[in-house]
Amino acid sequence: MKPRDRLRIAMQKSGRLTEPALELLNRCGLTFRQSRDKLFCFGEGEPVDLLLVRDDDIPGLIAQGVCDLGIVGRNVLNEYRLTGGLAGPALAEWRPLGFGRCRLSVAVPQELDYRDASQLQGQRIATSYPGLLGEWLRERGVDASVVTLAGSVEIAPRLGTADAICDLVQSGGTLVANQLREADVLLESEAVLAGPQALPSDERGDMIELLLKRLDGVIQVRESRLLLLQTSRGALDAVIRLLPGGPQPTLLPVAGQPDQLMLQALCAGEVSWRQLEEIKKAGAREMFVLPVEKMLA
Ligand code: PRP
Ligand code: ZN
Repeated sequence: MKPRDRLRIAMQKSGRLTEPALELLNRCGLTFRQSRDKLFCFGEGEPVDLLLVRDDDIPGLIAQGVCDLGIVGRNVLNEYRLTGGLAGPALAEWRPLGFGRCRLSVAVPQELDYRDASQLQGQRIATSYPGLLGEWLRERGVDASVVTLAGSVEIAPRLGTADAICDLVQSGGTLVANQLREADVLLESEAVLAGPQALPSDERGDMIELLLKRLDGVIQVRESRLLLLQTSRGALDAVIRLLPGGPQPTLLPVAGQPDQLMLQALCAGEVSWRQLEEIKKAGAREMFVLPVEKMLA
């Protein structure tokens, strides 16, 4: 087989990760012409194409060399490492991407008083993640029977085919609808950029490096916030102590109010409501948190 001279990225064809993954790639300067069968998207400006597939297939496609990279949930990648990928080349998680956050959790019937994993001893647990669940049970010395299902795991307890489940939880709505509740978290998951453990030592390796650099820039800006607020000079030190990490803030005078200052700070991550409340209690007012569009340090 002739080596490909274009980079190929596998991603979910239709699902929760599709839109944000495409948006992220667009922000990295990659645009695609969608083909009619919607399996393959040709990259327009750069030599980078997309393969749109079922997310479970993504790690295997990377391992076989059909794709160079993939955007996939950490849950799928880690499950593959434990089950499907034992014989093939090792895969690496190259970057967490900050979207598609969810948890892989054990859930039990609402009325059960769950304290710890030992209660799962001898129980039947339905899951689509036998590798991750099996490992978690083994680590805790719990002997349970893992019932592997491809989907609709949440109805297994009502059908009487399982006593508990192990599935992805995002909003928790699916659990509530099925009279289950989250009992233990096995894995905090999100979309990640997955690839082979080592970069290919040809042009594609160079392209991957370039893409990683752009991705890091995009992620950094996406997570940056500009915080604007007013504070009295007296409260300034207390306010500054509460600011989330970032470079030194800028201080500006406020016209006609010599005791007041306007403070401008670049924050490395999201500023939560709780943090804002605390900063306000320290004496700040007129607070704004703004997204950053572009940044050139
Ligand atoms: C996942 C998971 C749950 C649901 C949890 O399924 O299997 O069913 O999402 O989300 P919630 O906590 O917000 O209700 P998904 O919709 O991705 O489809 P699938 O089960 O077909 O994989
Ligand atoms: Zn589901």
